[in-house]
Amino acid sequence: MRLPARFFDANRSGELASRLTADATQIKTAVSLSASVALRNSILCVGAIGMMFATSPRLSAIAIGVIPLIIAPLIIFGRAVRRKSRSAQDALANATAYASEIIGANRTVQAFNGEDAARQRYARDVELSFDRACTAARARARLTGVAIALIFGSVVGVLWLGAQSVLGGTLSPGNLSQFLIYSVIAAGSLGSLSEVWGELAQAAGSTGRLFELLNEQTDEPEEAIQVPLRIPVRGSIEISELHFSYPGAPEKQVLDGLSMNIAPGETIALVGPSGSGKSTVFSLLLGFYHQEAGSLSIDGRDLRALAPHDLRKQISIVPQDVTIFATSILDNIAFGRPDATREEVIAAAMKAQAHNFVVGLRDGYETIVGERGLTLSGGQRQRLAIARAILKDAPILLLDEATASLDADNEQLVQQGLEQLMDNRSTVVIAHRLATVLKADRILVMEDGRIVEQGTHASLMRGSGLYKRLAELQFKIPGDSELAQDAA
Ligand SMILES: Nc1ncnc2c1ncn2[C@@H]1O[C@H](COP(=O)(O)OP(=O)(O)OP(=O)(O)O)[C@@H](O)[C@H]1O
Ligand SMILES: [Mg+2]
Repeated sequence: MRLPARFFDANRSGELASRLTADATQIKTAVSLSASVALRNSILCVGAIGMMFATSPRLSAIAIGVIPLIIAPLIIFGRAVRRKSRSAQDALANATAYASEIIGANRTVQAFNGEDAARQRYARDVELSFDRACTAARARARLTGVAIALIFGSVVGVLWLGAQSVLGGTLSPGNLSQFLIYSVIAAGSLGSLSEVWGELAQAAGSTGRLFELLNEQTDEPEEAIQVPLRIPVRGSIEISELHFSYPGAPEKQVLDGLSMNIAPGETIALVGPSGSGKSTVFSLLLGFYHQEAGSLSIDGRDLRALAPHDLRKQISIVPQDVTIFATSILDNIAFGRPDATREEVIAAAMKAQAHNFVVGLRDGYETIVGERGLTLSGGQRQRLAIARAILKDAPILLLDEATASLDADNEQLVQQGLEQLMDNRSTVVIAHRLATVLKADRILVMEDGRIVEQGTHASLMRGSGLYKRLAELQFKIPGDSELAQDAA
């Protein structure tokens, strides 16, 4: 949960889930089964070898002498088992990741008639994982086979020497039979131990995959160099000459010398073409990524020196892709502030115009919504996200297309609720619909990762830049002749 955003950009959630389930299960099976076998057979082995020495020290010394010959191939085969089991687990995780992706996207898959293609691809992935698991099992079988052949082969060799001694009269037949029984017990237990070894080697493939996760580094600054944030923050944001490209696409400069200042309590609007980097600014403000050059600070504190937890406490966001969890409406809103009372949750829902539709649901605030909010409409999801941000009540408010899915009526009502909220806090509003940003103190126009114009709606309309072009397109009311043309 604490790993940086770039980790989640590069890893699929289903693959990670498979490490937590399939790999952990393999380790569990190996450990729980093997522990008892290993314990029983170690005791048997030690006891039998002790008795072998008591019966015939000379033969026992020879038998012990061949043990290193047995161990060397075990280690070599063990490595192969480990490698092959790792690749089997990788393939299994790949299949799981694909399954969880298409199950989550079932509506889109069905809408595009992609069921067969998806099923075939999943079948291929599973088949591959099955083949690799078989390869790993075969390698393990070879390990056990070689170990048992070597162990019992050396027992036969030692017994042949023992028979010679009986013939030479230096060992009694009774002693040899006694030695025979002990060495079969010892050899049997060594055989079982080698099987345990194979099992552990197989589990080691999974252990490696789990340790990779455990060894991932977070981006958080070391506690020693963390600068405390004066709480509550005043909310001044200074961004200067920010350069940034995503770790997954280092060749593309997403922010290219972006500068802006936001005074405490100010409301600014960020507008600009799709892909110009608006949401990226929010990601940097939340400390999900860090800039390559330039500086980004809140109340004069460089973001990179802040504990992410402290920083994020000061920011309320309504993200562009709203996330709704598969729990009750109440819990979804209270996610913004888990210690909030029911009354506070309802008050936030009212401000976000969510209350009316929530009380109309079967169980009101206790209604459990589907995964990712599947059982709600787009605008309802968005209003829950707004309620969540309102409830969090942080000094800095970030709205990324927060009202884009709402009808004009609801949008206006939600805007009123949000305006109360924006009153005394620093707010950045991203919107494509320019009507929603008219009231901002300042409008910043972004293009290709930098600010190209700024001012109020009126002052920008006097110019002749990007904003004016966008605004003319949006606010233009087609004349009668154009409507007639469209109809024709
Ligand atoms: N996680 C990511 N990894 C790599 N590239 C990304 C990532 N997220 C966004 N980008 C790229 O960064 C650029 C800016 O994206 P951003 O989401 O900031 O645009 P935006 O201005 O918010 O656009 P929109 O108005 O469509 O939401 C885009 O070209 C996009 O392809
Ligand atoms: Mg965006």
